[in-house]
Amino acid sequence: MRVITSVAEMRRARREMAGSVGLVPTMGALHEGHLSLVRHARAHDDTVVASIFVNPTQFSPGEDYARYPRDPDRDLALLRDLGTDLVFMPPAEDVYSDGFDTYVQVEKLTRRLEGAHRPGHFRGVATVVTKLFNVVQPHRAYFGQKDAQQLAVIRRLARDLDLPVEVVGLPTVREPDGLAMSSRNMYLSPKERQAAAVLYRSLEAAQELWRSGVRDAARIRGRMNEVLADEPLARIDYVSVADADTLEELETVDRPALASLAVRIGKTRLIDNVTLTT
Ligand code: PAJ
Repeated sequence: MRVITSVAEMRRARREMAGSVGLVPTMGALHEGHLSLVRHARAHDDTVVASIFVNPTQFSPGEDYARYPRDPDRDLALLRDLGTDLVFMPPAEDVYSDGFDTYVQVEKLTRRLEGAHRPGHFRGVATVVTKLFNVVQPHRAYFGQKDAQQLAVIRRLARDLDLPVEVVGLPTVREPDGLAMSSRNMYLSPKERQAAAVLYRSLEAAQELWRSGVRDAARIRGRMNEVLADEPLARIDYVSVADADTLEELETVDRPALASLAVRIGKTRLIDNVTLTT
């Protein structure tokens, strides 16, 4: 496994690759969710590239950029075990060189949900993902459904800017109690970790209502809120039942929908979602 720490060297390495190239972009602190993407890439592409880059432009001031978990040695060992060919881990100064002044902005799709609560977040994501696509030039890039709005934003971006990459979305990997795996779960105390299972219980309740034939979105959101209200450590940022493509809130669930939520448990902000489709 080759480890590359500069944009220039990554470009040179890319020129020597034959066959299909699969890219798994990450911010490191890898868990089974990330590893499932790498395994999928390994099964589908000739060369597997993973990137590890904690991207400063997608964190707002006051968010957790400085304390975001970093453990490159452990990450590299995990990636090596899965047969990753190349890991790209550039320093921030190389990605955002002096005078950096160009950003990629996906418009309507980023005004809702996470975008509404984290101003500038998706501008940072769209910019760094575009740069990774330009430098690595993958045939396929793999992302998790865990970050459903991010996946939608990247699909939109690739389509709108004619980026020659197939964006592949893969299912959310969960802990046994349903909590979606996330690097941020490390922030939770044992008590908070237990409380965090309420996110998935709320989403399950939404799915259950939907399966029983309920199509009134307000009623489904109401039930999600009720389940969350039962957990004293949970503070709700938002609860949503939205069109799965446009992410516009629905009145009636008469098309594929996404039930999603953002909840604070102590100081940790967690997000999760399920689709409401047959
Ligand atoms: P990060 O949070 O490290 O996630 C990297 C990839 O892993 C994303 O595609 C995310 O959706 C996926 N992922 C995270 N948890 C998952 C889980 N439980 N199951 C399945 N997939 C999961 O998302 C980012 O980094 C960044 O925004 C990035 C795209 C790298 C741009 O900086």
